[in-house]
Amino acid sequence: AMDLTGRHFLKELDFTSEEFLGLVSLAAELKAAKKAGTEVQRLRGKNIALIFEKTSTRTRCAFEVAAADQGATTTYLDPSGSQMGHKESVKDTARVLGRMFDGIEYRGDSQQTVEELAAYGGVPVFNGLTDDWHPTQMLADVLTMAEHSERPVTETVFAYLGDARFNMGNSYLVTGALLGLDLRIVAPEAYWPEAAVVARARELAEVSGATLTLTADVAEGVAGADFVATDVWVSMGEPKEVWAERIAALAPYAVTMDVLRATGNPDVKFLHCLPAFHDLGTQVGRDVHAAHGLTELEVSDEVFESAHSVVFDEAENRMHTIKAVLVATLAGA
Ligand code: CP
Ligand code: NVA
Repeated sequence: AMDLTGRHFLKELDFTSEEFLGLVSLAAELKAAKKAGTEVQRLRGKNIALIFEKTSTRTRCAFEVAAADQGATTTYLDPSGSQMGHKESVKDTARVLGRMFDGIEYRGDSQQTVEELAAYGGVPVFNGLTDDWHPTQMLADVLTMAEHSERPVTETVFAYLGDARFNMGNSYLVTGALLGLDLRIVAPEAYWPEAAVVARARELAEVSGATLTLTADVAEGVAGADFVATDVWVSMGEPKEVWAERIAALAPYAVTMDVLRATGNPDVKFLHCLPAFHDLGTQVGRDVHAAHGLTELEVSDEVFESAHSVVFDEAENRMHTIKAVLVATLAGA
């Protein structure tokens, strides 16, 4: 059986397909047990540090609820409330936290930082999102796909539309390649993942049998899709000056009902890691509306609120899948 005890969870590339799918299966078991009221606590006496240099709703809450369900404690550290990065190096912080905690979660810009915490902490380190990767989100997405697919998830057709140069685009490409999906990145060429990521994904695809397509053509990219996904056009940490160029370049890649119809699949499902810009319910949305006159961006409100949308299952699954990572790495699985 799979043994991930003591392992880090830093990026998808560190895992085999069997290990990745093993974590998804464990998450499904933990989800069923929680719903049935039969969950067994396997993390009693464990303590987990949560470092958030960027904001979060889902990821933070998922780690906190998952840990509480399993009997572990969490300590939340934000950049203004800790020494890390101001008075203390990442390396020293890692060695301090590693003496007190059994695991460390990190969210911030830099993949280098989470890798450094892992190198010096002496305990499992979990990537809660960097600019390069969002691996816990991939576990949640694959679990959600498994729940909403008639076929094995590894045989599904998945299309990602939007800015694919960042964490979500990179993660979908590599995860699809690892698991053997028919995976399409649908964006203007300037928004495709960088060449090194594509090359690594192509190597994985040779082993898994994945079909990888990068295309600027929406009709070609979504044809036959079981799942259509997107992400915000401006990510955390980016300046508001980029909105204009993103809107100009990515407007044709917004997920609308026409895009879902172009899949030819009446049962196509829509995924979004969230937060999403689909109405004027946020300050960012109101600012963008004031500047650019738009009330929805990467996904139409119609799609977001439709029966195609499984985004709240996906959000819930962040918790079950993060719990699986904690249980597998800290308690054995
Ligand atoms: N999807 C996701 O990571 O959401 P948060 O930024 O709220 O954690
Ligand atoms: N690409 C987005 C994902 C948010 C979960 C960001 O980095 O802001």
